[in-house]
Amino acid sequence: MTSETARRPTTQTQRLGIDYTITSVSFEGPQGEGETVEVSWPGQPQFRLGLWEYSRIYRYPGLYEAIILDHLASDTHELVCNSALASMKDIPLRVLDVGSGVGLIGEWLKHRREIEHLIGFDALSEAKTATLRDRSGVYNDFIVGSVFELVEQLVSQSLSFNCMIAASCVGCGDITPKEFQKLCQLVEPGGVIAFNVREIPENDQPEILRIFEEVAEVQLNQVHFHRYRVDGATIRFRTVVGQRN
Ligand SMILES: C[S@@+](CC[C@H](N)C(=O)[O-])C[C@H]1O[C@@H](n2cnc3c(N)ncnc32)[C@H](O)[C@@H]1O
Repeated sequence: MTSETARRPTTQTQRLGIDYTITSVSFEGPQGEGETVEVSWPGQPQFRLGLWEYSRIYRYPGLYEAIILDHLASDTHELVCNSALASMKDIPLRVLDVGSGVGLIGEWLKHRREIEHLIGFDALSEAKTATLRDRSGVYNDFIVGSVFELVEQLVSQSLSFNCMIAASCVGCGDITPKEFQKLCQLVEPGGVIAFNVREIPENDQPEILRIFEEVAEVQLNQVHFHRYRVDGATIRFRTVVGQRN
């Protein structure tokens, strides 16, 4: 199904009761910047969406999953979660899910491990709205704002974390190396941090990896398929897991 999805310009899929049709349109730029799809469902005329337009995508139940998981064949959220759990002892998790989007990470973890608390965090209020709409009850709290605001709020709540997951949201214009450094400090010594960064030469990956090696003992550093680009080319990410010093 995976390679078929890459060859097919159109995917029909049902998510959260909606029959979506997703068609790849175009991409521009050397790294596929400007990736665009056309989307429709019964009663909804086709319209165009950029893959970077999270706020618009999150408005429709299951649309993120239809585009990223079904049309572009990504299962990165599962891979990052599995990699994190492989490094964790079998103890109740206290998790910070960074850049949590529509809550796929939280839902995946909640079905597999005992959770003491699970906090979602995203820069976009639309992510929180979508998570409460599509995955209500998964997170104990979902904080919207900047990394600075997150740190302030967590300190006032005296919450500690033995696990932080930052999937597909670090580097390349998302979470900056400085923000990443601050986030790592929220995890207690011995806690596990799992994240991934896009595997392209001209990004901030080297700085992010340098920061991580200063605060954690690296246990996994592995390049993997992330998803197809809308033209069928392959996008690779590097997943890194480590234990906080
Ligand atoms: C590709 S989605 C990944 C969602 C989720 N982690 C997953 O794997 O399914 C990236 C998310 O990161 C969020 N994000 C990007 N930069 C951020 C920042 N500086 N602070 C908080 N969230 C950020 C975006 O708003 C978006 O919801």
